[in-house]
Amino acid sequence: MQNRCVNMIAHLFNAPLGEGEAAIGVGTVGSSEAIMLAGLAFKRKWQNKMKAQGKPHDKPNIVTGANVQVCWEKFARYFEVELKEVKLEDGYYVMDPEKAVEMVDENTICVAAILGSTLNGEFEDVKRLNDLLVEKNKETGWDTPIHVDAASGGFIAPFIYPEIEWDFRLPLVKSINVSGHKYGLVYAGIGWVIWRNKEDLPEELIFHINYLGADQPTFTLNFSKGSSQVIAQYYQLIRLGYEGYKNIMENCQENTRVLREGLEKTERFNIVSKEIGVPLVAFSLKDSSRHNEFEISEHLRRFGWIVPAYTMPANAEHVTVLRVVIREDFSRTLAERLVADIEKVLHELDTLPARVTAKLAATAEGEGSSGHKKSPMEVQLEITNVWKKFVAEKKKTKNVIC
Ligand SMILES: Cc1ncc(COP(=O)(O)O)c(C=O)c1O
Repeated sequence: MQNRCVNMIAHLFNAPLGEGEAAIGVGTVGSSEAIMLAGLAFKRKWQNKMKAQGKPHDKPNIVTGANVQVCWEKFARYFEVELKEVKLEDGYYVMDPEKAVEMVDENTICVAAILGSTLNGEFEDVKRLNDLLVEKNKETGWDTPIHVDAASGGFIAPFIYPEIEWDFRLPLVKSINVSGHKYGLVYAGIGWVIWRNKEDLPEELIFHINYLGADQPTFTLNFSKGSSQVIAQYYQLIRLGYEGYKNIMENCQENTRVLREGLEKTERFNIVSKEIGVPLVAFSLKDSSRHNEFEISEHLRRFGWIVPAYTMPANAEHVTVLRVVIREDFSRTLAERLVADIEKVLHELDTLPARVTAKLAATAEGEGSSGHKKSPMEVQLEITNVWKKFVAEKKKTKNVIC
């Protein structure tokens, strides 16, 4: 079943497979394990090449955007690869392909592009990256490859944006990961990594065991694991098929539109997610002088919503966003209710007594007791405390507002 899933996903990603040829890939615990394996394959291939050329092979690096998910930092630290991050900038929250290619050197094992940034759902321009890298490889004689982290986008783009070239249609894309437990529509604990060809996964990383009765090739970080997620993925792929996934993703896209337009109508937010991308809405306050995104997040909890607020990575740390990910079960009714609840929260915050808003603003901007700049977590905690004190005071005077 695992191999059948690998084949279906490889076809979905346009792997160049001959008639009857089996795809190369494996089921993992999630995209994180998939990325560790893909990264290891790149590192080993690069080391083999450098050794064959008699060159030093002890300082591998990988080029990514500063917006990468933490699993890339884990890969870099656990497997001793330098992470070279392209910094973000105001209004541009994904990796700039031009800057990424400038950072590539002879020790770069691969450039990792993201199809669906964790922070704002935006698809990075893999085609542009591929074209620039083809040029650079031609000039230098190197053969720097690309990995696509399609944790979310891998089960979205093939269904609703089939015209976007991001996958094995591009010659330098050698491996792709996708999370089955995100838009693959399976419960938590499944991811996939697919390689373009046999040659892209060094044979020495594959172990063969036969003590279970037949030759079993294994390339995973652990060995035994439950089969339920693989069965669930197989079931979803077979039961829904291309049309089923397409309908669900179109529905998510439509509910995303409803939420985005509802937020735009309030005229209080800048939308920092893009229309083309993962079905999510990331948004920040146009004016955060009176209250900030952490306060909105905190207040929304009282209505049963957990909407995270977070700051962008370097060099866009001054931008704070709230993010809502639209999955299959997030209906239009829920989208409308969320907009209504956000409006209630805004109204409450707007009508807070001036002394409380002043205290909140000072908390959000002030320095910590030891003179250091407060971390977003510290700010969030202190804002919550100010708010709790205020509610307690109100309760004492029987003037309860929540
Ligand atoms: C772009 C990206 N890559 C990798 C991951 C890690 O995925 P997983 O949770 O499946 O290990 C995530 C998870 O949020 C992600 O958004």
